[in-house]
Amino acid sequence: MENHIKIRIAFFDTKPYDKRWFDACNEAYEIIYYEGKLNQNTVGITKGFQVVCAFVNDDLNEKVVDALVENGVKLIALRCAGFSNVDLKAAKDRIPVVRVPAYSPYAVAEFAMGLLLTLNRKIHKSYNRTREYNYNINGLSGMDLHDKTVGVIGTGKIGRVFINICQGFGMKALAYDPYPAKDVNFTYVDLDRLFRESDVISLHCPLTEQTKYVVNREAISKMKPHTIIVNTSRGQLIESHALLDALQEKKLGGAALDVYEEEADYFFEDHSEGGIHDAILQLLTSLPNVLVTSHQAFLTEEALQNIASVTLENIADFFAGKGLKNQV
Ligand code: NAI
Repeated sequence: MENHIKIRIAFFDTKPYDKRWFDACNEAYEIIYYEGKLNQNTVGITKGFQVVCAFVNDDLNEKVVDALVENGVKLIALRCAGFSNVDLKAAKDRIPVVRVPAYSPYAVAEFAMGLLLTLNRKIHKSYNRTREYNYNINGLSGMDLHDKTVGVIGTGKIGRVFINICQGFGMKALAYDPYPAKDVNFTYVDLDRLFRESDVISLHCPLTEQTKYVVNREAISKMKPHTIIVNTSRGQLIESHALLDALQEKKLGGAALDVYEEEADYFFEDHSEGGIHDAILQLLTSLPNVLVTSHQAFLTEEALQNIASVTLENIADFFAGKGLKNQV
């Protein structure tokens, strides 16, 4: 490990929990933690670093990737699973990109169920009521999940765990995935049927050209008026304006959103003083049947530890000239 001593990592969008786990797992590298995000304005500071460590809302567009290469950065180490924020075409054959493909599918799937239970049974409202000694339960009725149909889009690691959890609640599971898994105890259907038959729809696919706005106006028009949509994957899977219209027109039961298509402007930061200027997010947040959380589905101690150890292992593999098993 001696030759690793001088390897410098520029760590962007740092939060206290990142620093806690990376410091605990790091023995070999000099990590400089920056609170700001990596983007065109900040990429200049990467000169003199061999690695950048980035998260979901760092913007590694073509210009940023070009600048990283020019600055002599040798590796982009994402400490997340998704990589839609990196221009892979710009990076190809110039700078490798590694990621943490799975740090805890349980963290995300359990959170998705938490959102569903909270929204469906209006636990967020009861919490607020009883804090003000209001013990009235009018308007807090939900639906039994037992015997209801859940439609899961994307049956990878997280989607499969989520289906298991739903089956534990006695739900019937339908799923759509262009690469279906074998030997499953749920039913693959086309998207049209999934939209029409599901009482709950949960998104667990990556953001790609094919999946962008998979939940759009037309898809929503096929759904039942009480359907609850849960999105813990990526904001741009849902056309937010169409979602807002449907919720305002009472054509949907509710939406639980841990991600939002324009989240990079706000999520992970405290905007309680200055407020926000995104009218759609403002309106969504204000609706009684919408629950917005700030991209926290991954946030368990187990996941944070895995993120730190796998990211540092990816970096060690690169500098040891080993094959990069987590290259994007
Ligand atoms: P995975 O790679 O194991 O599974 C993704 C599944 O989506 C695969 O089975 C794939 O075949 C399927 N898929 C690909 N194209 C599709 C399409 N057009 N339609 C439907 N399905 C399609 O990924 P994993 O670990 O299950 O993660 C899923 C997503 O969860 C990630 O892409 C990421 O966006 C999100 N995520 C969110 C987190 C959060 O904190 N909110 C944390 C971690 C991941």
